[in-house]
Amino acid sequence: MIQDELLTELAQVKTPDEAEQVRIKYLGRKGIITNLAKETDFSQLSPEEKKNFGRELNQLKNFATEKIQETVNRFSVHGSEKTQIHRLLDLTVPGSSCSLGALHPISMVQMELEEIFEGMGFTVLDSPEAETEFNNFESINIPSDHPARDMQDTFWLQNEMVLRTHTSSNQVRALKRFGAPFRGIFPGRCFRYESIDPSHENTFYQCEGLMVDRHISVAHLIGVMKTLLSEVFRRDVKVRLRPGFFPFVEPGFELDLNCLFCGGSGCSTCGDGWIELIPCGLTHPKVLEFGGIDPNEFSGFAFGLGLTRLAMMKYGIRDIRYFNSGDVRFYEQFAPII
Ligand code: PHE
Repeated sequence: MIQDELLTELAQVKTPDEAEQVRIKYLGRKGIITNLAKETDFSQLSPEEKKNFGRELNQLKNFATEKIQETVNRFSVHGSEKTQIHRLLDLTVPGSSCSLGALHPISMVQMELEEIFEGMGFTVLDSPEAETEFNNFESINIPSDHPARDMQDTFWLQNEMVLRTHTSSNQVRALKRFGAPFRGIFPGRCFRYESIDPSHENTFYQCEGLMVDRHISVAHLIGVMKTLLSEVFRRDVKVRLRPGFFPFVEPGFELDLNCLFCGGSGCSTCGDGWIELIPCGLTHPKVLEFGGIDPNEFSGFAFGLGLTRLAMMKYGIRDIRYFNSGDVRFYEQFAPII
């Protein structure tokens, strides 16, 4: 059978050229199948026989064309794909690195603080940056002649609201909303009309904390602050309290951290061995009253941790202006190493 012979030959074909040779042998001008027609004496055939012969010859041609084409395809399609893949895929080329985004160092410190405070039972609350004068000043016992209200310190908005100058603006809002006992922190962005230098920014971050309950004392304040700082810096830290004035706390303190760079002997970062880190104090009775809390039954403490300052300490950043600079080279340093 011609078909069987053809298939046997095609099975042995190894190159496109060989397939072409087979095609010529069977279907070429003098090919085996082409010759069948030439060699047949049609005058000897009845019309019926002619018809059958023609049909069978056509079927044979189609069969051969199809099988030869399949064989050719084996090389032209699959074969070239294979060589192309080999050319494209060089497994020895070193991988190209992709750059991952990084969290801003302030965000990292903020997230860390949130976790630490949550562990101590504090709620983390979001809060507005544009504030009423009442929340930012009045409610926390800052009278209208306090220097913090000065045009030079505060960005006033046209609708008589302010860009909050600190996160203390949330103390009374939270007490009014949640009542006592209360434990919460309010991290967020604050604004002051400052001229910018390596340690001053007009836009910076704070994390306010407020705890109100029965019998809250300075001991609770120190306990919470020490726990916080030793977790942030991952070692036992020494702190000291100095008197400090803030209208919304009484007594008020500046909590200083024993310098982690020099161990307290004095260096260019700290000067005298201590770093002023957290203003704090016991909540002023007037603030509690504004919040609808009876100061005879409850007391509390508040602190206003400088998130930006803390990030500078933690990562050894000497210039505050990097934070809002948008300089990718600065942020890239905090990208996870992969
Ligand atoms: N809000 C004060 C500031 O920004 C800091 C502070 C907060 C002080 C809470 C005492 C208690 O300077």
